[in-house]
Amino acid sequence: MKILAIETSCDDTGIAVLEIKSGRFKVLSNIVASQIEVHKQYGGVFPMMAKREHLKNLPIALENSLKEAKILNPKKEINFIAVTNGPGLEPCLWTGVNFAKELSKLWNIPVVPVNHIESHILVNLLQTKNYKPQTNLFPAIALIVSGGHTQLILVRNIKKYKILGETRDDAAGECFDKCAKILGLEYPGGPIISKLAEGIVPQNILPRPMIHTKDYDFSFSGLKTAVLYKVKKDSTVDQSVVLSKKYKAKMAAEVQQAIIDVLLKKTIQAIKDYKAKTLILGGGVSANQELRRQFKLALSEAKYGSTAVEPYFLCPPADLSTDNAVMIAVAGYFNRNKKVAPGKVATIKANANLRI
Ligand code: KG4
Ligand code: ZN
Repeated sequence: MKILAIETSCDDTGIAVLEIKSGRFKVLSNIVASQIEVHKQYGGVFPMMAKREHLKNLPIALENSLKEAKILNPKKEINFIAVTNGPGLEPCLWTGVNFAKELSKLWNIPVVPVNHIESHILVNLLQTKNYKPQTNLFPAIALIVSGGHTQLILVRNIKKYKILGETRDDAAGECFDKCAKILGLEYPGGPIISKLAEGIVPQNILPRPMIHTKDYDFSFSGLKTAVLYKVKKDSTVDQSVVLSKKYKAKMAAEVQQAIIDVLLKKTIQAIKDYKAKTLILGGGVSANQELRRQFKLALSEAKYGSTAVEPYFLCPPADLSTDNAVMIAVAGYFNRNKKVAPGKVATIKANANLRI
């Protein structure tokens, strides 16, 4: 079976081909056309501009993806198309959905609409040698942290999810990006902050919003405001200090640790409360190496009761943590029962607020 997958929920145009043979996944191609250069100059993603870029990138990404996967006759070789239909930026989602519909009619193959958040979770199953996990991974706790989302999800099984908590305002990645902007760093801020923070021990001078609340929710907008006030205050004392690389690096380490601390506290609590066997990380922020290191450490250190074993830790390689179409193909595979026939694809709608 071969699946062609399309991802356009935010600012990356992704097209991938995934093969499933004798119960094994094989990535035949994974094309991601990044729009970072376009959005960099504005310090964030503008949906209408992102949409225009997707429209431009999609045909090229398709050609490259088919070529790399050595697909000569998609009509015959591709079994179905998987496409993200939410959540995400509505104009961007529609570009992918409409493109999938056109290909479906052209090649006369069905379309499977895919939830972007579910795909961040399920891409982790690519790592297991066989897509049917050898060990029982469930129940699992998934932390999906990206530029648009921060959700803590109980995964009772594949396709059985419950959102335990989520951010009440900004997403964790958004917080990285906004703090980076305040510090005069480029977009996207997450990778730049994590690079600058390397080797610096944070002094924990920033607040940890909602870290002590008894729910699984998050809030990051106060952290961004705290950074803004701190930088303003320090610049009235000496502006050159605030502009120095040393100051930016110090603040980067503070921001990174404050975000990690709240994510870690609530996630470990959920793992204990639900006696989870696995921790699944996903989304762009999970590409953060320091975050991964501290989560791994916390899993080995936390006490889960005398008989409990240390939970498994599943986190995709960095290129599959950030948005890509391979993850859409994997989620499409597990949702292949939702195939929409070529004659009925007009019923597929993009939904910016789609819930898992
Ligand atoms: O999942 P993703 O590619 O797109 C969305 O669905 O939003 O995530 C992008 C987000 C951005 O906010 C970016 O700053 C953040 O992920 N990010 C990181 C790192 N790499 C990407 N944040 C922290 N550390 C990183 N290494
Ligand atoms: Zn994402």
